[in-house]
This record gives sequence, C-alpha cells and structure tokens, in this order.
Amino acid sequence: AAPTRYEAETAPAVCEGSIDNDHTGYSGSGFCNGDNSTGAYAQFTVNAGAAGTATLGIRHANGTTSGRPAGLIVNGTTLQTLPFAATGAWTSWTTTTLTVPLNAGSNTIRLDPTTSNGLPNIDYVEV
Ligand code: GCU
Ligand code: CA
Repeated sequence: AAPTRYEAETAPAVCEGSIDNDHTGYSGSGFCNGDNSTGAYAQFTVNAGAAGTATLGIRHANGTTSGRPAGLIVNGTTLQTLPFAATGAWTSWTTTTLTVPLNAGSNTIRLDPTTSNGLPNIDYVEV
C-alpha cells in the first residue's frame, strides 16, 4: 500500500523548536526546525495496521557541512543512530528509508539529536 505521510507541523507531532517555512521544498505547510541542542527532539505518532516490520521514510534537510546525528527511538527503544548527513543546502531535502518494528495501532517515533547542533530540519515521516 502507499505510505501514509505524517507532517512535522501537524499534531500530534511534537517539534522541540519551531515550525518554519523559510526554506522551500518542504511538504505541507512547513517543517520542524529543532532547537540547536542535544535532545531537542521531533516526535511522530504513526499507525500500523498490524504488528511487524514496516518501511519508515524520514525527510530532512541539513544545510551545514556536518552530519546532525540523532537516535531513532521507536516506542521508547533506541534502535540506531541516524547520521542525517549534510544535504548541501537548507532547501535540499532527502529521504532516509529504513525498516523498523512497529506495534499494531499507534506507535511513537522520536528523533533525538545526540549533539549540541540538534536535528537537521525535519519535513515528515512516512510509514
Ligand atoms: C539556520 C536555518 C535553520 C536551521 C538552523 C540550524 O538558522 O535557517 O532552518 O534549523 O540554521 O542550524 O539548525
Ligand atoms: Ca535548527
């Protein structure tokens, strides 16, 4: 089935920062500009029809020259650290795709930056 998109600017998503729209190329009405600090997270609540593995897409832009690593925390469990590499410009967006285990029904997906630079700008996740 086609994935469902969950925009960072749409409740119940949480953005520890601001919803901005000053860099073009985002989907919906904006993106999460997380505070530039360790642990300033973005969180999404996504639905899965059945328990099991699902494909997760995360769209980000990072206009700096360094990665913005963040823990991927699914339902409270840290699964891995995502590098969120530089994309060349704040207007250049890229999607990271990976496989995650989900429960049937509601699931939380938190992106938790591990450095004081915080997250890259986050547009949406898709499941
Ligand atoms: C700039 C940019 C923001 C970005 C920030 C950052 O201020 O305009 O969109 O979030 O840098 O470094 O995190
Ligand atoms: Ca930021």
